[in-house]
Parts: sequence; structure tokens; C-alpha cells
Amino acid sequence: MISFRKKVIDTSDVMVDIIKVTKSYPPNVHALIDVSLNVNKGEIIFLTGMSGAGKTTLLRLLSRIERQTKGLVEVGGYDLSKLSRSKMQKLRRKIGTAYQDFKLLPERTVAQNIAITMEVAYKRPILIRKRIKKLLDQLGLQDKYNTPASELSRGEQQRVTIARAVANEPDLILADEPTGNLDHETTGRVMELFKECNKKGATLIIATHDESIYSNTNHRVMELYQGKQMFFDSQSKKRQLPSFVDELSFGDL
Ligand SMILES: Nc1ncnc2c1ncn2[C@@H]1O[C@H](COP(=O)(O)OP(=O)(O)OP(=O)(O)O)[C@@H](O)[C@H]1O
Ligand SMILES: [Mg+2]
Repeated sequence: MISFRKKVIDTSDVMVDIIKVTKSYPPNVHALIDVSLNVNKGEIIFLTGMSGAGKTTLLRLLSRIERQTKGLVEVGGYDLSKLSRSKMQKLRRKIGTAYQDFKLLPERTVAQNIAITMEVAYKRPILIRKRIKKLLDQLGLQDKYNTPASELSRGEQQRVTIARAVANEPDLILADEPTGNLDHETTGRVMELFKECNKKGATLIIATHDESIYSNTNHRVMELYQGKQMFFDSQSKKRQLPSFVDELSFGDL
């Protein structure tokens, strides 16, 4: 039995530890090069960078959808390269992922799509319904409970993806461009929901192009540039050139 929450709380403040990670795709695409990052439990951190910089790749390594070519990836104290398939499955129940390409089941209703993560965790149907209604309300989708996912706009699909990611109150939330298709007001609703999850203890890693969601916060920001980490300094927002990266330890700044 994997005791993710207990181990994280009891033995370490670190939720994610990435050390000198490289991810290459044959023959010669280097999606990530020597990236190091540690994220404390209860932290919100933003991943930014141009299209193709490696943001999605980094998130995919954290849920082991992909495996790194080199380096160490630890989540909740577990070295992902060493976890058996069944332990990884258990760990994934503690990780909520909002994918950039949504991955909703088109023939299923909004409620059924969101319920999936909670059903896997054997939650009671009445609790599942209550939680889904609350999330839809928060995200401005209260009238879409029974709508098939195939009939939703992209912005609506995006919000359902987010609701599904947070529904089971995971310890770690990985959100890939969560506000990419949303207007200002709806973006605000999503960020409020994320803040609420964070207050309850969740750690969030949010990949985004939308500077408005982090520019007025004190959260750390890591920028990727062609697979290398460029900078993070939430106080001065000072940029470091990629050539400096080797001398910087993300966790020390
Ligand atoms: N399965 C794959 N095979 C080969 N190359 C890949 C694969 N997945 C990603 N890449 C490459 O890795 C690099 C990083 O891609 P990634 O999707 O992580 O970028 P991103 O920062 O998320 O971009 P975007 O902002 O457009 O979502 C890109 O050059 C991409 O083409
Ligand atoms: Mg991406």
C-alpha cells in the first residue's frame, strides 16, 4: 500500500524533485536539457516559455506518461523510475492532471467525465454528485451537468478538464495551459478554484503562456527556453540567460 500523503507530510516538505533531467526524442530532439527543479509541498509554481520550450514534456515526466532520458524525477519522495506499474497507478490517484489536449470522453456527459477520478477512489455516488455540482457552479458550467462532452466549446471542455483534475482533491495538480481558451472572467474563476485547492494543501504546477495569471503573485516562475531552464526569481522577475543555467540550482534561489 502506497502512503503518498503520509510520507510527504511526515518525512519531507518536498513534493517534486527533478535533478538534471534531460528528455530526448530520437533522432535528435532535446525537449528538456539538464533541468532541475524542486517544488515544496503546498507551493504553486508556474512554468512558462515559448511554444515547444518543454513545458508539457516536464509535466508528462511527473505523471510518468513519459520517462526521462537522464536524471532523477521524484514525486512525493518516490523515484518514478523505480516504481512498479501498480504503485505508479496508486500514486497517480494523488495527482490530478489537466491535459493541454483535454482528453475527455466525447460520448460521456460532463458529470461522467468528472466522476471518473472519484469513482476510481471508491467515493459514494451522493458525494460524487455533490462535488461535481459544486465544481460546475464554481466554473460557470452549472447547466452542463448532463451535456455530452462532444457538444462543448473548447473553453467549456477546458473547464471540465480542470474540474476532473481537482475533483478528487489530489495532493499534486498538474495543469497544462489551463486558461488557454478562456476569457478574463472565466480565467479568474479557474484561478480561484486553484487557490482554494492550494489552501486545502494541494501543490500546483501550472504551465502557461498567460502572464496575467502569475505576474501579480509571489509564486515562483520557471521559464524554459528550448528545453533549458532560463530563470526564476519571483521577487525581481530578473531573467538569467540560458548559459548561466548550469551554475544555478533552482532550489537555492
Ligand atoms: N513524442 C514526441 N516526439 C518527438 N518530439 C517531441 C515529442 N513530444 C514533444 N516533442 C518535442 O519536444 C519539444 C517540447 O515540446 P513540449 O510539448 O514539451 O513544448 P511546450 O512548451 O509544451 O509547447 P506548447 O507551448 O506549444 O504547448 C518540442 O520541440 C516538441 O516538438
Ligand atoms: Mg505544451
